[in-house]
Amino acid sequence: MSSEKEYIALEDILSKTSITKYIETNWSPLRKVGSNFITLCPFHDDKKPSLSISEEKGLYHCFSCKAGGNLITFVKEFKNVSSGEAIKDICDFFDIKIELKELFIKDNTKKISQLIKLNSIIAKLYNKVLIEGKSSQKAIQYLKDRGFTRKDIIDNEIGLAPESWDFLVKFIDQRNLNLGHSEEMGLIKKKEKNHSYFDFFRNRIIFPIKNRQGNIIAFAGRSLNNEEPKYLNSKESQIFSKRKILYGSNKFSLLKGKKPKFVYIVEGYTDVLMMNKIGINNVVASMGTSLTNEHANEIRKLSDRVVLIFDSDEAGLNASFKSIEPLFGNGIDVYKLSLPDSFDPCDFIKINGKSAFVNILKNVEPIMDSYIEYLKIQYLEKNKALNSIINEFLSKLIYISDVFKKDIIINNFCSTFSVSKTEVEKKLNSLNSGSSSIDEKIKTDFHLSPIEIALKVFVENIKSRDANLLKEIEEVAKPEIIKIIDIIKKDLNLEPAKILTMLDDESSKYFSNILFTSTEFNNELSANIIKECVVKTRLDNLKEIKRKINMKLSNAKGLSPDDEKALLSELNNIIKEEKKIKS
Ligand code: CTP
Ligand code: MN
Repeated sequence: MSSEKEYIALEDILSKTSITKYIETNWSPLRKVGSNFITLCPFHDDKKPSLSISEEKGLYHCFSCKAGGNLITFVKEFKNVSSGEAIKDICDFFDIKIELKELFIKDNTKKISQLIKLNSIIAKLYNKVLIEGKSSQKAIQYLKDRGFTRKDIIDNEIGLAPESWDFLVKFIDQRNLNLGHSEEMGLIKKKEKNHSYFDFFRNRIIFPIKNRQGNIIAFAGRSLNNEEPKYLNSKESQIFSKRKILYGSNKFSLLKGKKPKFVYIVEGYTDVLMMNKIGINNVVASMGTSLTNEHANEIRKLSDRVVLIFDSDEAGLNASFKSIEPLFGNGIDVYKLSLPDSFDPCDFIKINGKSAFVNILKNVEPIMDSYIEYLKIQYLEKNKALNSIINEFLSKLIYISDVFKKDIIINNFCSTFSVSKTEVEKKLNSLNSGSSSIDEKIKTDFHLSPIEIALKVFVENIKSRDANLLKEIEEVAKPEIIKIIDIIKKDLNLEPAKILTMLDDESSKYFSNILFTSTEFNNELSANIIKECVVKTRLDNLKEIKRKINMKLSNAKGLSPDDEKALLSELNNIIKEEKKIKS
């Protein structure tokens, strides 16, 4: 590098700098693999280097968390700074000076402030319609029903887009505001026919969406006449990315720089507003999308612990568990709170009041505890296979980096399902090693169970197939296998390949897995092998029932004495039957 500073144009920055040099010096050592370099990824909790860097292309990509981009995006994300600051940092590092005539950054900030200004004018307009308009009774009534007063409407700049196709268009026209910018942000749209504009939000309550600095960057509109979708967002734009923005994050400024113990994450706009109303300002909502890595990155700036307060229905549960990955993956500790009677926070507070809500906030539990509880229900009531339960559990566990925490969670899982800890840990280690993805590994982790071996041996020896033997297999088979047996029953001489074509997609994949997995019993039909497999399956099935009964018994609180008695006698019968089979 020369001692004289070079003056270069902004576009040339990337060609005058070295992405590998920057990452190596500012982050961690690189290793050459083929024509690329790899290193640990700074954007998730990486154990094996998964960030790949191409010096030639000037790009990086993480195979695990999918982060990627050029040197400028790297610095932006790595140092949590704006594009302008990133460019300055890069120039400082490589000792280069940008030509002063390069006004790109300035132009950019100018445009951004224009967009923000425009939004603020439009927010005021919609707010005025709601407060002063003659046709706003319905909207006011909805907000009142949700628990919001006139003061709340003013404080939060909630508005109303009237039932009109050109209310906003006319306003923008009269005030000489920027039509192009308004279209860019999705507040007005062009008609296909004559290219004239029309309003995007019509007859909707308008919630301004603010960034962390408190600038309005987008809007959400809630329909007033049950029109679908219930909520609409204005478009993604230079200033609004749904994957990144958290509704309510502007209120964190009220905490005066103190990092809160938790960030509460709720589902809805009204939930955030209602919690704000009772003085809880460390709360955000992700606006109808599931939490992304970008969200997690934003959350980490606010706190390193979150409490999810999602609806208690199936969708809410799924959303909670889906967010384990980005949150744990970014080093954020996750807790969960369930509200009773399918209340959302807004309704709960409106009906039960502030102190009841503050009280219930004490009931937070670690997310993995409720996940294990959820898996237990999947296992006991939805008949999910234990093997896939273990895989699902591990696919979440793998994102937890704290070894002590991980150990406690594994213990909980193993005692809940009475499975051996060594086995679970062995599986976990095999997932942690090697280069293929976890999903990949779980998919390829396919061992044949005794019943599958029985079926394989039967199918692969066409000449010696025997209807009675098939019946024996059928008696102990699970539904997936019975589907296959039903087809063979109709014609005992069917070739395996023919059977495959007669199955639905799911079963045909399963059957072909059985055919392609090799066993030690190649190509010899022995009725004995099949009979042995059937006995083994029968015992396995009983063991499975025993496990389920024991799990139900250990949950003694939820059992009536009669239930308990019935379970115990069932257990007795099974033990007797086991003895009979073994003898
Ligand atoms: N949501 C969305 N699009 C929908 C429905 C919901 O984006 N069609 C998002 C919104 O961010 C909404 C949140 O999911 O705030 C929660 O949805 P819901 O509980 O149905 O709405 P509430 O916020 O409780 O508000 P209300 O039912 O009073 O409209
Ligand atoms: Mn809700």
